[in-house]
Amino acid sequence: MSDSELKARAEALRRALHEHNYRYHVLSAPIITDGEYDRLFAELKQLEAEHPELIAPDSPTQRVGSDLVADLPKVRHPAPILSLGNVFSAEELRAWRERIGRLLPENASLSYVVEPKFDGLTVVLTYLDGLLVQGATRGNGEIGDDVTPNVRTVHTIPLRIPVSGSDLPVPRRLAVRGEVLFLKDDFAALNRRLAQDGLPPFVNARNTAAGALKQKDARVTAQRPLTAYCYEIVDADGPSPLTQWETLQYLRDLGFLTAHDVIRRFDSLDELIAYVQAFEARRHALPYEMDGLVIKVDERATYRDLGVVGKDPRGAVAYKFPAEEATTRLLDVTANVGRTGVLTPTAVLEPVFVSGVTVRQASLHNYDLIAEKDIRIGDTVIVKRSGEVIPYVVGPVIAARTGAERPVERPQTCPVCASPVARDEGEVAYYCTNPACPERVARNIEYFVSRSAMDIVGLGERSVRLLLERGLIADEADLFTLTIEDLLLLEGFAEKKAQNLLSSIEAAKQRPLATLIGSLGIRGVGSTVAEVLARHFHSMDALAAAREDELQTIEGIGPHTAGAVVEWFANPRNRALLDKLRRAGVRLAEEAAPPSRASDRLAGRTFVLTGTLPTLKRNEAATLIEQHGGKVVGSVSKKTSFVVVGEEPGSKLTKAQELGVPLLDEAGLLAMIGGAHG
Ligand code: IVH
Repeated sequence: MSDSELKARAEALRRALHEHNYRYHVLSAPIITDGEYDRLFAELKQLEAEHPELIAPDSPTQRVGSDLVADLPKVRHPAPILSLGNVFSAEELRAWRERIGRLLPENASLSYVVEPKFDGLTVVLTYLDGLLVQGATRGNGEIGDDVTPNVRTVHTIPLRIPVSGSDLPVPRRLAVRGEVLFLKDDFAALNRRLAQDGLPPFVNARNTAAGALKQKDARVTAQRPLTAYCYEIVDADGPSPLTQWETLQYLRDLGFLTAHDVIRRFDSLDELIAYVQAFEARRHALPYEMDGLVIKVDERATYRDLGVVGKDPRGAVAYKFPAEEATTRLLDVTANVGRTGVLTPTAVLEPVFVSGVTVRQASLHNYDLIAEKDIRIGDTVIVKRSGEVIPYVVGPVIAARTGAERPVERPQTCPVCASPVARDEGEVAYYCTNPACPERVARNIEYFVSRSAMDIVGLGERSVRLLLERGLIADEADLFTLTIEDLLLLEGFAEKKAQNLLSSIEAAKQRPLATLIGSLGIRGVGSTVAEVLARHFHSMDALAAAREDELQTIEGIGPHTAGAVVEWFANPRNRALLDKLRRAGVRLAEEAAPPSRASDRLAGRTFVLTGTLPTLKRNEAATLIEQHGGKVVGSVSKKTSFVVVGEEPGSKLTKAQELGVPLLDEAGLLAMIGGAHG
C-alpha cells in the first residue's frame, strides 16, 4: 500500500469503529458482532504500530472504552479495571512471552495460569466485613455503573463471604472481579419461555446479559437467570494470595463460582500451548460461551511489576478463538426438499467468513422460527457456525433495517414438483405431499444407500443422480437389479469399481430388518424407532398390516409416527416398492429368534440412544440392553431411566437435560452391564 492508501485505510477504519462504537454503546443496537469489531480494531492498532504517524488524537485506539449508562448512579473503582490484549495463534503467544521476557531478569522462569475467557461482562463486587455492599459494571475502567440491586439477584454471587461456616480469613474490604453471563441452557430456557408467551427471542446472550445487568429495575434483572464466574482480586485491605492460582482457590473457598473444570497451571510454555490449542474442540461442551482463553503470569508480584500498556496489563493476554458469529446480508430464502418431503427453509447469504470457512448458505430451521425471529429478506443477519454443526441464522440485526426488507413467505407448493404442501397439526414442518416428487425420490435413494442406512459402498450422491437421469433406476428396489452393463455406462465406473458396487449391493440384501425399515424414509422413523418397530413386528408384512391404534400402544411411538407409518404402507407406490424388494431377494423379516436373556441387570429400565457410540453400532447397543432385560425406546420422557449419548447427539440430549434424565456414555452403559459384554 502507498502512503496515501495507508492513510485512507486508517481513516476508514477510524470512521467505521466510531460508528460501531456509537451503535454499540449509545444506541445499544450494534450491527456487527464483537468479533468483527475486534478484527477492525486489531487492524487499526497494527497499522498504527507500524506507522505511528497515522495515530490521530481521535483514534478509537486512544481511549479506554466506556459502557456507562446515563441514568444509573456512578461509582469509582478502587483500582483501574483493566482490559486484555489479544493473540490469535501460538506464534503470537510465544511473541508475547518473548516481549515480557525482555522486561524480566535474564532467564527468569515463569508459571502461567490458563482460564476461560468468559463471553460476558465484567462486574466488580465489593464486600465489607464479608457482606456484599456494592456491585458495579466496568464502565470506562475508572468509573462504573452502580448495579448493586441487580447483582444481588444473581444466585451465584454470594451475599456474604465465606459462604459456608468456615473461618477462612476475609479482609475487611475485598473487591472481586468476575464476569456475568448466561449459561447456555439458561439462555435457551429464557428464549423458550419468551416463545411460549409469543414474544421474540433474544439473539445474543452477551448483549442480553449486559442489558439485564444494567436494568434500572432489579425486578427485571431477577427474571433473567444470570450467572457470575469470579477470577480476580481487584483490591483488598489485607494480605491476599501471592499467586493467581492461589487466588482462584481462595475465591472458590470463599464461595464464589470459579471455572475449576477449565483452569490449569503450567510451568512450561510448550505444555500451555498444547493445552490451549487442544482446548478449542472442548469449548462447545462447556456450559457457558467462551471466546478464548486467558493466560496470566501466575506470580502476582511479577504480574504487577510487568505493568500496563494502554489499558492492557502486560502480564496477561487473551488467546482468542476464531469468531463463530458474523453478520451478513440475507439475499433470499429457498426451500430445500428433504427425503421425507419436509421443506427446510435455507438462507442464501452474501458470502461471509465464519470460524475458518466461507459460508454462503445457512439453515433457517423452520418457517415458524423465521416468523418468531422476524427474519426478513434483505436483513442484515447474524450467522453462527459453531463446531461442526451446519451454519445457521441466529437472528436479524433490527437496527440495520432500511425499510426495504420483505417478509419470508411460507410455501404453498413444493418448489420442485409444484404439488401442494401440507402440515401436520402441532408440527412445525411443511412437507411436499407427493411421494413421487423427483427430489424426494432422489434424496430417499441417496439416504437408502448411505452409511447410516443400507450402507451400499461406492454409490455417492452424484452416481445416484446419474442413475436416475439415465433412467437406470426409478426407486430403491431397482438398485438390486442393476447389471454390470448398466454401471459401465456411467461416467467414472470401470470394471473393478462396478464389480465392487455390485457385491456391496448384494450384501445389502441381508441387512437386518430394522436397518431396512429405517432406510425407507418414513416420516418420524429414524434408526431408533425402526429398531423398536422391528423388535415388535419381526417382519415387514406384519408391520405393513399394523393398524394405527396398535402402533400407538408401542412405547416410543407417538401418534404422528403411527400415522406416518400407516400412511406410508397405504401408498400404492410404496407397496410396489416392497414387492420389488421382495422379488429382488432383499430380506424382509427378522431371521433369528429374539436374543436370549444374558442377565437382568437392566430390568425395569428404559433407555434412549442418541449419537454415534465409539465402538457399538446402534442396533448392537439396543440388542445388548435388551439382552440384559432393559428396554430401548425412541423418545425421551420423564419415565426414561437413562439416555446413552454418543458423538453428535441430537435433540434427545437436550430433552434429557431439560427433564433431568441421567446421561450415560458407552463406557457407562457397559459398566452397568458389568463388563458382561464380550
Ligand atoms: S482478566 C487485568 N480473566 O475479557 C486483567 N478477563 O477482553 C484483565 N474476561 O474486560 C481481565 N474472562 O471482562 C480476565 N478469565 C478472565 C476473563 C476476562 C473474561 C473479560 C473481561 C475483560 C475482557 C478483555
